[in-house]
Amino acid sequence: MPRINKTVVLALLIATSSVFLLFQLYYYKQYMSKLGTRSGGKAVQTGGDAHWQVVKRFLGLVTKYNLPVFLIDTATLGLLPSDITQPRDNQAEEPLCRFFCTHREFTTFALVAKLWKYDASLAQAAAERGLELLEVRGKDPRLVGLDDLSGTEIPLHFLFRRNGHAVHVVVFYERSGNYMWHGPLRLKLSMDRKFVSFRKLDFGRHAGAYDRPELVMASVDGLDVQIPKNISHFLSEHAQAHFLECRYKEARAFYQLHPDDTSPEAMDFRMKAKSLLHLAAQTLADLGVPFWLSSGTCLGWFRQCNVIPYSKDVDLGIWVKDYRPDIIQTFQRAGLPLKHKFGKVEDSLELSFQGLDVKLDIFFFYEEGDIVWNGGTQAKSGKKFKYVFPKFNLCWTELVELKVRVPCETLDYVEANYGPNWNIPVKTWDWKTSPSNVKENGVWPVREWDEVIQVY
Ligand SMILES: *[C@@H]1O[C@H](CO)[C@@H](O)[C@H](O)[C@H]1NC(C)=O
Repeated sequence: MPRINKTVVLALLIATSSVFLLFQLYYYKQYMSKLGTRSGGKAVQTGGDAHWQVVKRFLGLVTKYNLPVFLIDTATLGLLPSDITQPRDNQAEEPLCRFFCTHREFTTFALVAKLWKYDASLAQAAAERGLELLEVRGKDPRLVGLDDLSGTEIPLHFLFRRNGHAVHVVVFYERSGNYMWHGPLRLKLSMDRKFVSFRKLDFGRHAGAYDRPELVMASVDGLDVQIPKNISHFLSEHAQAHFLECRYKEARAFYQLHPDDTSPEAMDFRMKAKSLLHLAAQTLADLGVPFWLSSGTCLGWFRQCNVIPYSKDVDLGIWVKDYRPDIIQTFQRAGLPLKHKFGKVEDSLELSFQGLDVKLDIFFFYEEGDIVWNGGTQAKSGKKFKYVFPKFNLCWTELVELKVRVPCETLDYVEANYGPNWNIPVKTWDWKTSPSNVKENGVWPVREWDEVIQVY
């Protein structure tokens, strides 16, 4: 069988020479990296270079269509040196792929939808550059409240692909004029799923929310791109960007059963609660203290996507580890006088500020094993109470046109606090006895009352 032998020999030859070639490439790469940026001339034809080529082709499209994109790839951003925005003199001879070529086969960019006009010829132009384009659409969440428009779909993600390398473009929409939102990436067809193993992608497992970033121009691997000015800030936002949409459908069903109160008093309360929430959020953001919607304010968001008009106050939760002694002063300077301070940092701390006809209650939460809890204090008796919740993570959402956090496991949180009948409005509420998770927790020693019971 001389023919088979020939084939075998040929295959062996190819195999050995490929191995040899790999070795050569390996040593060449080592050699190149020793030379550092001084390599000059052409880049090596490796998998890395193929990736760089795809990014370059994509950036060619960006230039042609004036696409408002910026780099959000967490692996690449994490590698960039802090002086990346400084002009470099040896730029022209620096084609090595040091930052775009990571251990992954994709690079992620954001597209600012507000500054962009959809152009259907994009796919064609991509094809001309040898890039296959997949567009993933989804519902526009900004329209869900409007019955006749609620099905409107918008582009959420683009994937440009060539030879197993991809550029993932996440479309960032501005919401309520004050933050950026991107949708989840849901691939519908199995063909789409093969397009890129999207479980590995950086963005799209959930919807996400970000502050509008300040951008700067940088030259990355010889390519000009916009990047977030404060990279570490952007990366820390990415780590906790998970956004939950309000349950608009359930909220509509709730209002069918329990028509909304649209009296002037209710409207007035909602308006005041909204401005108080905006003021509190700004004040805590200035202090760098994260907070979430708690108690009735959280229930209002979860059940009816709005403030409950008869709730009389705005309730926020803060981890006690984020407590700062200047919180009280800062709120007072923002025009919210302290109404009472109960407990102390080590135990059951609770602050209450007086807004315009609306009270702002801030509960500090303590972590203890599998549970978290916050405390309550009855001023006249010195009695202590404890409200226990299952552990939770924090997610972003929107309430009264504001990006705010809620416990991601919102149902567990609300059920812990209000019991299985949380979906039925209750107008008479006693904070000492009504909550499902309230426990008596002893009495403050009289000698501590001056410290732990302060009423103004
Ligand atoms: C960048 O962001 C980090 C983290 O949010 C922050 O601590 C730092 O002050 C910011 N740097 C600048 C220059 O704004």
